[in-house]
Amino acid sequence: MELQVIDMKESNRRETKLARLISPQKLPNHVAIIMDGNGRWANKRGLPRIAGHRAGMNTLKEIITCAHDLGINVLTLFAFSTENWKRPRWEVDFLMRLPQEYLQKELQSLMEKNIVIKTMGELKQLPRITKNTVREALQKTKNNSGMILNFALNYGGRHEILNAVKAISEKVKRGILKTEEINEDLFDGHLYTKDLPQLDLLIRPSGELRISNFLLWQLAYAELWFTEIFWPDFKKEHFLEAILDYQERERRFGGIHKL
Ligand code: IPE
Ligand code: IPE
Ligand code: MG
Repeated sequence: MELQVIDMKESNRRETKLARLISPQKLPNHVAIIMDGNGRWANKRGLPRIAGHRAGMNTLKEIITCAHDLGINVLTLFAFSTENWKRPRWEVDFLMRLPQEYLQKELQSLMEKNIVIKTMGELKQLPRITKNTVREALQKTKNNSGMILNFALNYGGRHEILNAVKAISEKVKRGILKTEEINEDLFDGHLYTKDLPQLDLLIRPSGELRISNFLLWQLAYAELWFTEIFWPDFKKEHFLEAILDYQERERRFGGIHKL
């Protein structure tokens, strides 16, 4: 118990120190996180995987508050991928119930923070109850004007790209669009992220050094930040560390260093 208190004090000190180093003028506009490592976190403690998913919800709360307090404009969170349906039925069922549990607990506090909830992915395939709670949250927060909290639910980067290709081909076929008019901006405008600013920073906890079909197009020039920490152990200090690291990088977009 005492050790825990010392740990917390130490971590608060680190947070304060990191927060002071952050430059408000150089904040990333759009940050995305692959919330990974829940299962392994639980395994390590001899707990069922679902205990890890539940613990991950506490991290979610802490990181949303931190991003909001810092003044980040858009936070995109990978909650369920198009490939996650491959998991055992009991785990998928549990994950499908989480948005409800989360929103019941947190919607009020998100409203107080003036947060706008958005989603990206194929909501159609979600169970009706999940879909309804999510849609209700979209509706309730749509007139807010603060940070955009964008949940990737049943999201797949390849699926998103194929959808854009299909929509564009359809327009060409119907004569609404000429092939010569297809360019990067037009393509961007057919993605789920069409109304969001360019992605600046991707954070992936859990030690995996891969993208796992997340934001494939949007990641072209985003900065990447990986950590071994599992999502339920990911704290404000890690988020601040990632932001600070981002601020120290030089983004050249293929150009050269400006003297
Ligand atoms: C992330 O944690 C949550 C989802 C993918 C829904 P995982 O469940 O993938 O945890 P690990 O990677 O097995 O530890
Ligand atoms: C990515 O994590 C998806 C989410 C966090 C929602 P996964 O656990 O599904 O990715 P892989 O299987 O390790 O690549
Ligand atoms: Mg995983």
